Amino acid sequence: MLRKIAISAISALTLTTGAAFAAGGESHVHDTAFSFEGPFGTFDRNQLQRGLQVFTEVCSACHGMKFVPIRTLADEGGPMLPADQVRAYAASLDEVELPGGTTRPREWTDKFPTRAGEGMGPDLSLMAKARAGFHGPYGTGISQLINGIGGPEYIVSILTGYTGETKEEAGTTFYANTAFPGGWIAMPPPLSDDQVTYADGHPASLHHMAEDVSAFLMWTAEPKMMARKQMGFVAVLFLIGLATLLYLTNKRLWAGVKGKKMA
Ligand code: HEC
Repeated sequence: MLRKIAISAISALTLTTGAAFAAGGESHVHDTAFSFEGPFGTFDRNQLQRGLQVFTEVCSACHGMKFVPIRTLADEGGPMLPADQVRAYAASLDEVELPGGTTRPREWTDKFPTRAGEGMGPDLSLMAKARAGFHGPYGTGISQLINGIGGPEYIVSILTGYTGETKEEAGTTFYANTAFPGGWIAMPPPLSDDQVTYADGHPASLHHMAEDVSAFLMWTAEPKMMARKQMGFVAVLFLIGLATLLYLTNKRLWAGVKGKKMA
């Protein structure tokens, strides 16, 4: 019975989320099934590596990631690149500027480069947690309890949401985008089919690249997600064990009293 109520509550919420988008009409974010969703979801190492490739070859031309230390690419639970590859990758990025106008090669202990200036986009380190894709029902955000905040879904929807229409305004070109609030974004469509050739031979359709880079940006925004979920699971098991012991202790303590009939 309880289960039934819970299930119908969940489907009602999901339905109203959809309805709220349709009614609002300003930004459309579709749900994407990511491997890291749910209480036991984990990052897919190959997907993170592909996402890193898309970020490096495409997005990093205009977006920095100044909060992400390059060495974390070798970390457990992340893209887990071998240490020598991570060092070589760091060396291939823009040099680090030193005071006095000199530069030195980037080390893996440095962070990813920053991007600033004309035509550049915002820093992407934390973007997957800075944007919410799901707001419903009726703007309360309750559906986020079930669907997550929808940050990576928002990024997928932006990357795949171009309609092809453009407009000029004050010397800037804007591109019609169904996911961007307001409907017009200053970012030119960054991805098109087969733009990158994946090292692992995975198909590189627009959708695949969009999902891979969004999964990667979820990892940069929350690199310890898997450790957090594991810790939560252990804590729940521990509490179940403790509750069982307390229940048995309680029963035993009161056994003598409760067994007696009052005359
Ligand atoms: C040619 C430069 C350029 C490239 C390449 C580019 N972007 Fe952007 N991006 C921008 C600009 C400019 C903005 C700011 C748009 C605005 O505010 O209208 C932006 C904004 C964004 C936003 C933020 C939207 C928001 O809610 O504020 C995301 C997410 C994003 N880009 C992701 C990406 C990803 C992922 C890639 C690689 C696949 C990429 N961008 C490639 C220039 C670029």
